[in-house]
Amino acid sequence: MLDYPLIITTTYLISAALLVVGLKQMGSPATARRGNLLASAGLLSAVAITLLDRAILDFRTIAAGMVVGAAIGAMIARTVKMTAMPQMVAIFNGLGGGASALIAISEFLRFSNDRSIDMPLETSVTIMVGTLIGLVTLSGSFVAFGKLQEIVATRAVTFPLQKTISAALFIGIVAASVFLVVEGPELAPFLALVAMCLLLGILLVVPIGGADMPVVISLLNSYSGLAAAAAGFVLNNTILIVGGALVGAAGLILTQIMTRAMHRSLLNVVFGSFGAQASSSSDGGVRSRADVPDGNPEDVAIMLAYAQSVIVVPGYGLAVAQAQHQVRELASLLEARGVNVRYAIHPVAGRMPGHMNVLLAEADVPYDKLFDLDDINDDFERTDVVVVIGANDVTNPAARDAADSPIFAMPILNVDRARQIVVLKRSLSPGFAGIDNELFYRENTTMLFDDAKAGVGKLIAAVSEV
Ligand code: TAP
Repeated sequence: MLDYPLIITTTYLISAALLVVGLKQMGSPATARRGNLLASAGLLSAVAITLLDRAILDFRTIAAGMVVGAAIGAMIARTVKMTAMPQMVAIFNGLGGGASALIAISEFLRFSNDRSIDMPLETSVTIMVGTLIGLVTLSGSFVAFGKLQEIVATRAVTFPLQKTISAALFIGIVAASVFLVVEGPELAPFLALVAMCLLLGILLVVPIGGADMPVVISLLNSYSGLAAAAAGFVLNNTILIVGGALVGAAGLILTQIMTRAMHRSLLNVVFGSFGAQASSSSDGGVRSRADVPDGNPEDVAIMLAYAQSVIVVPGYGLAVAQAQHQVRELASLLEARGVNVRYAIHPVAGRMPGHMNVLLAEADVPYDKLFDLDDINDDFERTDVVVVIGANDVTNPAARDAADSPIFAMPILNVDRARQIVVLKRSLSPGFAGIDNELFYRENTTMLFDDAKAGVGKLIAAVSEV
């Protein structure tokens, strides 16, 4: 006779080990692909054995769900643009939280529909926790999606009594949870709890803006893991608890890395409304192109070809234009002439953690040419030419020098301290934070108004002629 519980426990153990090893391997670009495959294999075996284990649902329902889900997933994966990946991750976080909340809610409804079964204390507590974290993740992630997609205001939105209302909601949620745990599964207070949790998720993310969005996205990622772990406790399913805890811990570590890189504390991010007020000097005052002379690629090519040291600063526009291969080609040309070319990577350049690293790795830029902000910031003043490609906020000196700027105190790359600065972008338009950048108007800045891919292409042609 097959010992089913033993087979299931052993498979779960193997799946958990695959998840841990896979996650560890994702820590380095060299092993990340294999790590991804290992973790996927771990998840697949966990799902397969769970399906064999429990006759929770009719298999036809499961098969229908899988077909519809896989079709939607495959369609989105094929059509989503690389630049829209951060939004997709935000939606994934939200749906993960929502799925976990649905598990908690359906367990609650099971007890509420059949009052002859008593809801054990630990089950009712985990149902409340799963509903809270899952729904806050769901609504919060959809607001984050809206901000990244720029369909809601990307800056921090604040209004009077915001923090008081959020605190009151939280107290209301705790009170409703205690009531439900003590009094049993009453539907009306539970619906009120659901509404309060959804509202709290919205109110927690709306006042966060600009440079703090990356921290919030990693925090929501962590919440989605915690919600899954809570769902695991509700269902008493070991692998869901382990998998959820791993995602929760990984998300928290990433959140910590991002807050440290941005010189912020987590409390400050969640309650500080960074980037809320826009100062008159730095917001909305985008000057016209007539104020700034248009540089030409030939002059910049001479500047680059005769430099000793060049630092490339990539930003979101590089990802939009998919110019990474051209950038690599330009760097190779310059290196062949003896120029020392390095890349300065700001922790929040682009729209997701590691965005620039992934792009440049795709073009085979060697990892040892990539330098983090703290490792390269003191070198700008000794650098001949800095080429800023599609980056804006991460180079804005106002963050360092203007106390009234909405992004004041965000660490920036000190590109303005280099001898010559070249900025390649299509116009004087602001970046994600929505503010003007003094860098564009400096004496030693040359603006090349062009799409990043086309512009670097022209530089390649011009350097080849020098
Ligand atoms: P941004 O400040 O957003 O600026 C990007 C610039 O790229 C824009 O000013 C745009 O100017 C230019 N651009 C767009 N398409 C282009 C193209 N095809 N060719 C050339 N240029 C193009 O980018 P950044 O400096 O990388 O800073 C990132 C910002 O996003 C920060 O505020 C950060 O807080 C925020 N954020 C980051 C993350 C993560 S985790 N990285 C997540 C959410 C938000 P033109 O229109 O004039 O070309």
